[in-house]
Amino acid sequence: MNDCKMTAKEQIIKISEKKSKSFRGQMLAWYDKHRRTIPWRAPEGELSDPYHVWLSEIMCQQTTVPAVIPYFLKFIQTWPTITDLANADRDDVMKAWAGLGYYARARNLHKCAKLIADDMSGSFPQSKAELQSLPGIGDYTSAAIAAIAFNKAETVVDGNIERVMARQFNIQTPMPKAKKEIKQVAAQFFEREKARPGDFAQSLMDLGSAICTPKNPKCSLCPVVKTCAAHKHGNAEMLPIKAPKKTKPQKRGYIYWIENSDNQVLLHTRDDNQMLGGMLALPCSDWIEEAGTSAKGKGATKPAHVSFIDQSAVINTQQHIRHSFTHFDLRLDIFRYNAPLCGTANDGYHWVERGDIRAENFPTVFKKAVALCH
Ligand code: ADE
Repeated sequence: MNDCKMTAKEQIIKISEKKSKSFRGQMLAWYDKHRRTIPWRAPEGELSDPYHVWLSEIMCQQTTVPAVIPYFLKFIQTWPTITDLANADRDDVMKAWAGLGYYARARNLHKCAKLIADDMSGSFPQSKAELQSLPGIGDYTSAAIAAIAFNKAETVVDGNIERVMARQFNIQTPMPKAKKEIKQVAAQFFEREKARPGDFAQSLMDLGSAICTPKNPKCSLCPVVKTCAAHKHGNAEMLPIKAPKKTKPQKRGYIYWIENSDNQVLLHTRDDNQMLGGMLALPCSDWIEEAGTSAKGKGATKPAHVSFIDQSAVINTQQHIRHSFTHFDLRLDIFRYNAPLCGTANDGYHWVERGDIRAENFPTVFKKAVALCH
């Protein structure tokens, strides 16, 4: 950008009033023509329902918009208001979330809905600070709700907006260190956008998703290509510079299909303090890190079988499933066990009629095992 100055000492990019206005004007004009139709967006000229914005923003963390849409529609159909969601059984909320991943988001979602329904008469607070005090709502989500639902001039920076900004200003600092620099730049647009902050944020999201894509950006269609420093330098596709990939630890464990003579299968609702806490699962052993796959790997030889089965009667199916989480890869060997009794299950465990088991109610890792065993 011609009017931008980077002072060597402070490393802060300064954007003039004039440039900020012109960039925002170009983005909003482009948005008015090319905005995506997304179920949680209000019609042109209206503000979105805060419940819809909150729900969609929580769902969109770490997940793409097309993947979120069916979940979002199911949620608002089942629980049309935040009070309906607050009154829902948490297990039903977790089942409806199954497959979206990052399950702490769903636990906090329900907690937050209860708090708003019980203590705030079912109405969201409007300021970023108040929103941020709620469970599961951090810096990004509070800014997005305040801007999109309440028209507040807050700085909204998600992955798409990060990429657009890194390219506009040819920011060569590698991620995640570049985040602070990018936010300082973005703030100089957002803080001045008093008229349509929500639309401005969503215009950048749409630009990042459709035009300023990670690979093969369509610069010839970009409304702000003229001011894009990376385009000028011919390095848009390289930005933002990614952090080097870490090798993932490899974990192993056992997973069990335990059936009794009444055609019932033993399921587990995982403890809140476990990974995938609160989610429906098949019983599992501990997940043990294989030696040599990270600095922490202790070199345990094998996971131990769960204590409530007779180890001499458990059948190794010779099948396994693999699943990749953000921080590790997991392999679970599948065992079958015919339970001798139809007694009561341990705490957190329960018997379910085999025919009533629905793969879609499980997180993806367990869905894979259910598909093989059922
Ligand atoms: N990603 C997260 N929130 C979004 C929104 N409101 N529009 C487009 N993409 C998004």
